[in-house]
Amino acid sequence: MKHLIAPSVLAADFANLERDCKMINESQADWFHIDIMDGVFVPNISFGMPVMAAIKKHAKKPLDVHLMIVDPDRYVETFKAIGADVLTVHYEACDHLHRSIQNIKAHGMKAGVALNPHTPVALLKDVIEDLDLVCLMSVNPGFGGQKFIPNTYNKVKELRAMIDASSSNCLIEIDGGVGENNAKALIDAGADVLVAGSAVFASEDPVRTVELLKNID
Ligand code: DX5
Ligand code: ZN
Repeated sequence: MKHLIAPSVLAADFANLERDCKMINESQADWFHIDIMDGVFVPNISFGMPVMAAIKKHAKKPLDVHLMIVDPDRYVETFKAIGADVLTVHYEACDHLHRSIQNIKAHGMKAGVALNPHTPVALLKDVIEDLDLVCLMSVNPGFGGQKFIPNTYNKVKELRAMIDASSSNCLIEIDGGVGENNAKALIDAGADVLVAGSAVFASEDPVRTVELLKNID
């Protein structure tokens, strides 16, 4: 499968969201990556439901929603109602992860689980067949523009092997510090979806940067 590119709207210009949504629509990007933070699970607050609903009005591609919030079960129905296609919760934020995954799927969305850099891949062994996506955080969540953590390569390989040994079709997504310098190595290690915030939006030509990331073989 050709890898997918998901520009992170966190790095967009919030005063020009419609323009930046159009840029993503017109580019070769596959998904919109939407980072929701609560100031509790992570030490930052991004934006919430009204802003995501505004993005949905302009987005012509699926919304890949990354919840960096405690107790995400409370909001599953709401995120479905405002247009989430993929809903990802953090392993570290769920006491009953299996139930949270089933709840997301019961609401008609693809279910993802994100792992912080310190959380071992092996902890997903007993839910891997239930998952549509695993998001490996390659920075500590909460902020855009951070430096990529190289141990992510080991985690991608380990997760790839776990998925290939199962009957799961789960996608491997990498989030944080991804750009032209490491995209090829991540794909070679087994990544399926690359999230890119600052690499896309801080570049001179975001559409071209998406094209470069998408056309890596
Ligand atoms: C970090 C977010 C990321 C972030 C990535 O907590 O989950 O999606 O927007 O930004 P870059 O690509 O700039 O590291
Ligand atoms: Zn994210």
